[in-house]
Amino acid sequence: MDKRKTLKVLITAFCLIVLSLFFSSVSDSAEYVIPKKFTTPPPPFTPGIFPCSQCHQGMPADKKPRKLEQMHQEITLRHMPDGWCFDCHNADNRDKLRLANGKLISFGESYYLCGQCHGTVLRDWKAGLHGKRTGQWNGEKEYRLCVHCHWPHEPAFKPLTPMPPPVKPSDIK
Ligand code: HEC
Ligand code: HEC
Ligand code: HEC
Ligand code: HEC
Repeated sequence: MDKRKTLKVLITAFCLIVLSLFFSSVSDSAEYVIPKKFTTPPPPFTPGIFPCSQCHQGMPADKKPRKLEQMHQEITLRHMPDGWCFDCHNADNRDKLRLANGKLISFGESYYLCGQCHGTVLRDWKAGLHGKRTGQWNGEKEYRLCVHCHWPHEPAFKPLTPMPPPVKPSDIK
């Protein structure tokens, strides 16, 4: 009687292990694999602007929000109410971006910067649902950076002027 009981327990345990192995392997193969590294084209800098340190090295950082007049006049911040340059740029080494936790990242990884506030968009971007990637469906891929499409200082797209409706063939003289 005791022997049969132990046998039953052993068989049940064995079945459970086999089942759990089966299901874990099924869910593993069904899960989409997000790469750990993202290959991107170089950041779309204005020619000559990078490295920033060519001018900023030795220049004291001016953290006061103001209208820039001697340089970067084309940059007006229309993003993040009350935000300023050093929410994203690093004051001491201008060639790096700075995350909120103080970590410095290169301009080639700026998607991590954007992902701090646009977490769901970054998640979609990694999976190829937002933005654009090219390459092989089951192999190497190249991701476009967020800043290839969105100007970080004023990310909203300008509204397009609608085109006039087409002329009806009967109205063409
Ligand atoms: C040709 C020289 C030059 C280059 C290259 C340059 N900057 Fe500047 N930058 C300036 C000057 C000059 C100012 C001060 C402008 C003012 O006060 O009106 C400035 C101001 C700034 C400021 C405002 C805060 C401060 O310290 O005054 C930021 C942020 C900044 N630059 C970021 C950058 C970044 C990022 C790059 C590289 C992608 C870069 N700059 C490249 C010359 C340069
Ligand atoms: C939301 C984050 C963010 C803020 C705020 C921000 N920047 Fe930037 N900035 C970026 C990122 C990201 C890039 C890199 C774009 C790229 O890779 O080409 C950039 C690029 C630049 C460049 C190089 C532009 C070019 O023509 O290639 C300059 C100069 C610059 N920033 C200055 C500033 C100044 C000055 C301010 C404040 C008035 C500021 N930024 C505020 C994120 C930010
Ligand atoms: C500190 C938080 C923060 C960071 C970092 C940040 N954003 Fe934003 N972003 C916001 C907020 C808040 C809004 C909505 C309010 C606004 O538009 O000013 C916004 C709006 C946007 C929009 C929508 C604009 C519209 O009105 O359609 C885009 C696109 C965008 N961000 C792209 C980016 C990109 C690209 C980066 C990285 C370079 C970035 N953001 C980094 C906070 C952030
Ligand atoms: C290939 C171009 C492209 C790239 C790369 C890209 N976006 Fe976008 N993004 C768009 C377009 C186009 C829209 C407008 C979609 C719409 O209006 O429905 C948009 C909309 C947005 C919006 C506003 C709407 C929303 O879904 O909240 C945010 C925020 C945003 N993008 C952030 C990002 C961030 C962050 C990245 C990088 C992780 C990124 N984008 C990469 C093209 C791009």
